[in-house]
Amino acid sequence: LLSIVGSTTRAEEGPVCPKTETLSRASFPEGFMFGTATAAFQVEGAVNEGCRGPSLWDIYTKKFPHRVKNHNADEAVDFYHRYKEDIQLMKKLNTDGFRLSISWPRIFPHGRMEKGISKEGVQFYHDLIDELLKNDITPLVTVFHWDTPADLEDEYGGFLSERIVPDFVEYANFTFHEYGDKVKNWITFNEPWVFSRSGYDVGKKAPGRCSPYVKDFGHLCQDGRSGFEPYVVSHNLLVGHAEAVDAFRKCEKCKGGKIGIAHSPAWFEPEDVEGGQNMVNRVLDFIIGWHLDPTTYGDYPQSMKDTVGTRLPRFTNAQKAKLKDSTDFVGINYYTSFFAKIGKPDSRNPTWATDALAEFEPKTVDGSIKIGSQPNTAKMAVYAKGLRKLLKYIKDRYNNPEIIITENGYGEDLGDKDTDLSVALNDHNRKYYLQRHLLALNEAICEDKVNVTSYFLWSLMDNFEWQDGYTARFGVYYIDFKNNLTRMEKESAKWLSEFLKPGLKPS
Ligand code: NOJ
Repeated sequence: LLSIVGSTTRAEEGPVCPKTETLSRASFPEGFMFGTATAAFQVEGAVNEGCRGPSLWDIYTKKFPHRVKNHNADEAVDFYHRYKEDIQLMKKLNTDGFRLSISWPRIFPHGRMEKGISKEGVQFYHDLIDELLKNDITPLVTVFHWDTPADLEDEYGGFLSERIVPDFVEYANFTFHEYGDKVKNWITFNEPWVFSRSGYDVGKKAPGRCSPYVKDFGHLCQDGRSGFEPYVVSHNLLVGHAEAVDAFRKCEKCKGGKIGIAHSPAWFEPEDVEGGQNMVNRVLDFIIGWHLDPTTYGDYPQSMKDTVGTRLPRFTNAQKAKLKDSTDFVGINYYTSFFAKIGKPDSRNPTWATDALAEFEPKTVDGSIKIGSQPNTAKMAVYAKGLRKLLKYIKDRYNNPEIIITENGYGEDLGDKDTDLSVALNDHNRKYYLQRHLLALNEAICEDKVNVTSYFLWSLMDNFEWQDGYTARFGVYYIDFKNNLTRMEKESAKWLSEFLKPGLKPS
């Protein structure tokens, strides 16, 4: 009876929102955290320092330079040496949180403890975390943001093999015991959907493997043509997550901490009204249910089992039990939305429920955002309402969990204007994007009573954007790649620091 009363009360009450005249930090519930986000490989550089071993991405960028715009992350934006300076930028923004990732091969250069621990690597993250705490910035730490140690790739194919599970758990557990008294917010995996889909289905990201059905990228793919791989990779990752969380919950030092996964759902609108919602639900099952159903309910969504058939591995009962309720919050990286068209489920198409996805025409408020400036896809819509709808969907479908926006942001490829500072620093599109999304987030929290507790913007500064190299800029700070990686404030940074100004009181 008690638990029923408890949950009813919680759902009805929801977060308490102050009333304000204009949207600002003061419009969010007390204690709501705002931060920026990064990942080790994208910002650190110093790839050969402190005995760091190579990661999958070091090898990939050197082997296939044409697939990463002929760029690499050897120096990246030199966060490894400049983190103190960068923490001052976070202060200037008035942020109070920071999302970073730990580089596995910086800790275990060859992937496993028995082959050596890098003391310098371990110390680097202590120094970084200490410096954050000293500046009143709360760290949110991602254990794995795609940089598998190259030795484990060579030895058994990384996440393609179930041998990754004990190795990942050893590494994750090491980080929990090392940093768990200072870091209370953890993410095991960043964007499992992107990792499996881009790396093992469409071959856009390392290790660049493809399913047999991919036409556009197929010619670039070396191997991996069975169509099983994305599912196998995600399966190993999920089992590794559940084991790691088990270790986390047993770690004495980590008591009082929280752990989750950062998912990467887009939102989908039905293109055809009739039957469209079914289509949307099916796509959402694939894009988020694939990983969120197992960690909430212990198993894959039924629609995936029906569509994917024998290519979808099955969990044992013991695995199901460990997976169920294996997160304390749901991390959401939200960028954009699409239309979903009614289509026949295509069992050959491995990671989409259907081939019927269409480009999304955004209904922006004033039409001022040009579609087509997003680098990753030719057309990425700015659709803040999608964020609100997605959050409500997760609340309703996944038992009203705590949600952290682990990423949200705007990327631009400025082309030949890339070094024209009068253009690059006046990033009105980004400012507009952030305003719209923070408003939608506020509505989700205050009107729909979704339990969102923090927001992390991608990204603090421009950095290595995977297949787009340095051509896609996501930062609120500009990096001058031609001039000693100097950091420069963009309009969006100025706006954000005003928005987050401490002392703003509710009206
Ligand atoms: C998703 C990823 O987590 C991050 O690494 C990437 O740079 C951003 N989103 C932007 O694409």
